Amino acid sequence: GKGNHRHFMLKEMHEHPEAVSNTLRSYLDPTTRAVTPPDLPFDWKDVPRLTITACGTAFYAALIAKYWFEQLARLPVEADIGSEFRYREAPMPAGGVCIAVSQSGETADTLAALRYAKTQGQTILSVVNVPESAMARESSVVMPTLAGPEIAVASTKALTAQLVVLATLAIAAARARGTLSREREAELVAALVEVPSRIAEVLNNDDAIAAVAHRIADARDVLYLGRGVCYPIALEGALKLKELSYIHAEGYPAGEMKHGPIALITEEVPVVVVAPTDSLADKIASNLEQVHARGGKPVLLSDAAGVARLGAKAFAALTMPAVDPFVAPILYAVPVQLLAYHAAVAKGTDVDQPRNLAKSVVVE
Ligand code: F6R
Repeated sequence: GKGNHRHFMLKEMHEHPEAVSNTLRSYLDPTTRAVTPPDLPFDWKDVPRLTITACGTAFYAALIAKYWFEQLARLPVEADIGSEFRYREAPMPAGGVCIAVSQSGETADTLAALRYAKTQGQTILSVVNVPESAMARESSVVMPTLAGPEIAVASTKALTAQLVVLATLAIAAARARGTLSREREAELVAALVEVPSRIAEVLNNDDAIAAVAHRIADARDVLYLGRGVCYPIALEGALKLKELSYIHAEGYPAGEMKHGPIALITEEVPVVVVAPTDSLADKIASNLEQVHARGGKPVLLSDAAGVARLGAKAFAALTMPAVDPFVAPILYAVPVQLLAYHAAVAKGTDVDQPRNLAKSVVVE
């Protein structure tokens, strides 16, 4: 049941901390604080390229993982949408690895992409929330997420759990490839261990998130901007807003704004800026200032340092806990999902069962 929650989606977002800690527990040794990936039938040192394929929200996990594997493990990564990848006839290198990411493990396009990768001689890993699913059965290695069942159509806690699996795997790959210092590895693991408590803080701030959502719920269009590893969080925010509230939304890498979307900036258009303090903070600050200078309505999601710096130029601001930039996308997935949820509730749409959508897309 929904417990005390008004919707399954709300209940499931309140289960983010548990989904993350249960998943962390199976991929981290709590005493040594080392990552404990499953045994793999290959050596990361020999892998020429990693391909990660998925659909929808799971694709955003794939895209975030691309940043992690490239940066930490110096491994070339292709992240591709299942429905495109399955038909593209992409060449795949001998010895390559393909990861399919899916809550259900049944999504037809992701499954077809997995099968294509198999024909290309890739070793198949799957990150699934349903361990007896079709994708799990067709993989060499299954890495389950321990998010528990998702009932609401919109995927929520599965995303943070997928990110935990992929983050620990990226650390393991980096260690195997000798591209990560012991000190930085310890910092990354410490940051991961903290995530459930930081997410709990975000959930405790839900009234403030709902207040921000009410300020965007009347908009016809909303833009979401992010940079680097948080760019896919802009995509997630936009997808969730459109599917739940039916408000038109677009996610963009903030640096692309000047190549077109800036033409849409008016005082009618809220622009949600996902801006944790990280190595790109100056870049995204200037993107927010550009929105402000053109009379737009920036909605800032940042930590106290970011809000102190940019809050005066924002139409609304939400203060997030400060975290290591490595885990920022896991943490910032939560407020963008909650914003969409509250905007939808304000509009009176069917949050758990949005029109035209199905939980599992098992046909093409
Ligand atoms: C969005 C959403 C969908 C799914 C997508 C993939 O909120 O829920 O975009 O993420 O249909 O589903 P799975 O993860 O089952 O492959």
